[in-house]
Amino acid sequence: MLLKNTNLIKRMFITLEGIEGSGKSTLIKNLNNYLSNLDIDVLFTREPGATNTGKNIRNLLLSPDTDLSSEAELLLIMADRVEHIKNIITPNLNLNKLVVSDRYIDSTIAYQGGGRKINVKLIKSLIKSLKMPVPDLTFLIDVTVETGLSRAKDRAELDRFEVEEMDFHERVRRAYLKIAEQEPERVIKINGNQDEVAVFNDVKHFLEMKLTDNE
Ligand code: TMP
Repeated sequence: MLLKNTNLIKRMFITLEGIEGSGKSTLIKNLNNYLSNLDIDVLFTREPGATNTGKNIRNLLLSPDTDLSSEAELLLIMADRVEHIKNIITPNLNLNKLVVSDRYIDSTIAYQGGGRKINVKLIKSLIKSLKMPVPDLTFLIDVTVETGLSRAKDRAELDRFEVEEMDFHERVRRAYLKIAEQEPERVIKINGNQDEVAVFNDVKHFLEMKLTDNE
């Protein structure tokens, strides 16, 4: 499929989700090359930690030395997101850019809801009350916990989430799969156990469908 008129792509908000070691960083590198070649005005961002305040919140959240209750963790993540939306996501969407965020609201439902067992209704009601924009499209890169964690362990020192037990990560994965089941129009599940080229080609296929939909 060929994208005909990339100037017509407007205000699209795409998010990438997955457990630890799902391959999002490699996918972002491939997406960046592809979208830049198409001359699409794209902004890549991430959570937590895209804003100046967010960077401090990210350090706190990821440091294995931080002692936090699950509820305080949820509120810190929400604070990071409020700043992210206000300073980065909304202004760039208003400039008619394609905004791609590495993690967003589904991470909170999966990690704090699934992983930490906070009531998902409470999380969803916070998201709604704070009027957080819903993504137009979300790619869930799904890998088994074994694969994801072994990739994460090969990469660097493990952070506060990565050191959690297998069961935590299994709950996160299950919560993600449930979101994909509940919202098939928005959330596309991609098999992340494949090699990076196959993952990218799958994502590209759905992305082109969505972008040409908008033409
Ligand atoms: P990452 O940017 O390296 O993926 O690390 C971010 C970590 O933060 C990851 O382990 C998941 C966690 N996280 C949550 O628990 N809830 C959230 O809402 C977000 C955005 C991230």
